[in-house]
Amino acid sequence: MKRMIYIVTVIACCYSIAVAQDEGSGGAELDKFKPGEVWLDTSGRAIQAHGGGIILRDDVYYWYGEDRTSRQKTTVSCYSSKDLYNWKFEGTVFKQEDLASDIRTNTFIERPKVIYNAKTGKYVLWMHLEQGGYHFARAGVAISDKPMGPFEFVSHTRPVKYEFDFPNPDPDRQKELGGTFRDMNLFVDDDGKAYAIYASEHNATLYIVRLNEEYTAPEQPLAENKTWARAFVGKYREAPAPFKYKDKYYLISSGCTGWTPNAADFAVAENIFGPWQSKGNPCAGDDSEQTFRSQSTCVLSVPGKPDSFIYMGDRWNPRQLPDSRYIWLPFKFDDNGGIEIKWLDEWDLNYFSK
Ligand code: GAL
Repeated sequence: MKRMIYIVTVIACCYSIAVAQDEGSGGAELDKFKPGEVWLDTSGRAIQAHGGGIILRDDVYYWYGEDRTSRQKTTVSCYSSKDLYNWKFEGTVFKQEDLASDIRTNTFIERPKVIYNAKTGKYVLWMHLEQGGYHFARAGVAISDKPMGPFEFVSHTRPVKYEFDFPNPDPDRQKELGGTFRDMNLFVDDDGKAYAIYASEHNATLYIVRLNEEYTAPEQPLAENKTWARAFVGKYREAPAPFKYKDKYYLISSGCTGWTPNAADFAVAENIFGPWQSKGNPCAGDDSEQTFRSQSTCVLSVPGKPDSFIYMGDRWNPRQLPDSRYIWLPFKFDDNGGIEIKWLDEWDLNYFSK
């Protein structure tokens, strides 16, 4: 009898622990951003959307990024949210197996970004495709009818072939294949034209390339300073995060030190193709020389608040990449067109009402 009671008690205990975990896994509703802390999705799992970007469609935000759970086999995850604090995992929208068969086995995905094409009604995914050694350095493009995918692979390319002072030897094979395509972002302008902005020439120079009507390839024929341009030539800027405010183009970028953080740069241009003028490091306070130990991935415009933006960065943890954290910080333009990004342990969207 004693033994029976013991067994029943153990079963009851296990059951209540399981129920508690289940209930706990729903996660409490969030109403604050806590930069650098583990960020759980609505099912209680740590969000995997590194090097990501966000779009807003029909009052729903979609956050796409790298799921780093498997180091050399990153996938593209998608989360949705109505309030930017609480994110529901919508699934893996693109994975290695969805790539063209010639590159399927050994290619991984970095810095995926999705934009919506109002003309075609398609969601277009661009990503940096890479292989061991980081010499593959190509753009991958995929499309979907729905924000939650699945995305269908279109092509992999080096978008621009340009005669610059090629390094010799050049393991990136740029003379033959075109300039490298690594850290990248996308930008849709008010007139519906879209641009890919990416680190090229082995990261020495950023390329800004206008896309075709479908957003699936560069606009043809390519014409330097008309349909595409080199910017920050020889400056080794990467992790580009473009945005627009009062008819001017802005770009936050990082230096080029791999997973190690460095100082951000904030630049402005009247024309997206340049010339770009650097205004220095937009961060202030402790850790500002390391961008608060983060690297830019995108800047989000706060709807209904034209002067308000959110800096989104990754605090990479190279030893434990899936445990890399998200650094989201608010900023506003001052009357002189300047910005200052400061550290906050926690904050909410009321910041922008002040
Ligand atoms: C960084 C880049 C990351 C990743 C990393 C690999 O410079 O921003 O996206 O590629 O290098 O070392």
